[in-house]
Amino acid sequence: MKIFRNNAELMQGIQNLNCKIGFVPTMGALHSGHISLFKQSLLETDKTIGSIFVNPKQFSPSEDLNRYPKNLNTDINQLKDLGVDYLFVPSIDDIYPDNFEEIDYISDLHGILEGSFRPSHFNGVVQVVYRLLKLVHPDYLYLGKKDAQQLKIISKMIDHYKMPIKVKSCEIIRDQSGLALSSRNTYLSTQEKLQASTIYKSLCYARNHFDNGNRSSSEIIKTFEKNLNDQLVKNIDYVSIVDETTFMITNGNIENNALLLVAVKVGATRLIDNVELLV
Ligand code: PAF
Repeated sequence: MKIFRNNAELMQGIQNLNCKIGFVPTMGALHSGHISLFKQSLLETDKTIGSIFVNPKQFSPSEDLNRYPKNLNTDINQLKDLGVDYLFVPSIDDIYPDNFEEIDYISDLHGILEGSFRPSHFNGVVQVVYRLLKLVHPDYLYLGKKDAQQLKIISKMIDHYKMPIKVKSCEIIRDQSGLALSSRNTYLSTQEKLQASTIYKSLCYARNHFDNGNRSSSEIIKTFEKNLNDQLVKNIDYVSIVDETTFMITNGNIENNALLLVAVKVGATRLIDNVELLV
């Protein structure tokens, strides 16, 4: 695996690649969720490029930028073992040079759900992903379904700028308890992990309720809340149902395929998860 430590090395290293390129952007601290994205790219494309860059712009001043987990050597070894072709590990100056101009793309989804709790988050995400895509020029971009709103916003941004890139959305990977894998799970104590495992269980109860014919969004949301660990119920940021295609919030009956999305604080750690509700 070739490692590029700056833009010049990346450009030189990939300029003559005349093949289908898959790209997996990450912030490192890789877990099986990331690995599944790399595996899918390795299967479906000719060359796979990963990136590791902890993007300061997507963290608010009160968030965990300074303690975000870092495991660069372990990450590199894992990717080498998988057979990943290239890894881009840029510096802050590579991504945001002094003359850097922010793109002014703001989607209609920037301010809802995650965006209402993390106001500058999606602007930070689109800035970095746009920059990375302009540097890497992939044919395919691999993203996980756990960050469903991010996935939707990035897809919309790619359409907006007419970038010739196909977004591949990859399934959520969970641990044995059902907890969706996230680099932030390392912050959880054993007790908190136990509480956090009720998030997916409660999502499944709610989805079963839906699959049994209940189409009322408020009933589905109530089922989620009723089954969640008592401590966590007090710390729900949101439980919402959105239309899977438009991502618009569904308040009445669920008529189209939808996503049940949740964000919950477990101790000091904020977790998100979702399940599909297929009509
Ligand atoms: O999902 C992530 O890890 C990040 O938001 C991403 C897409 C790598 C951008 O920093």
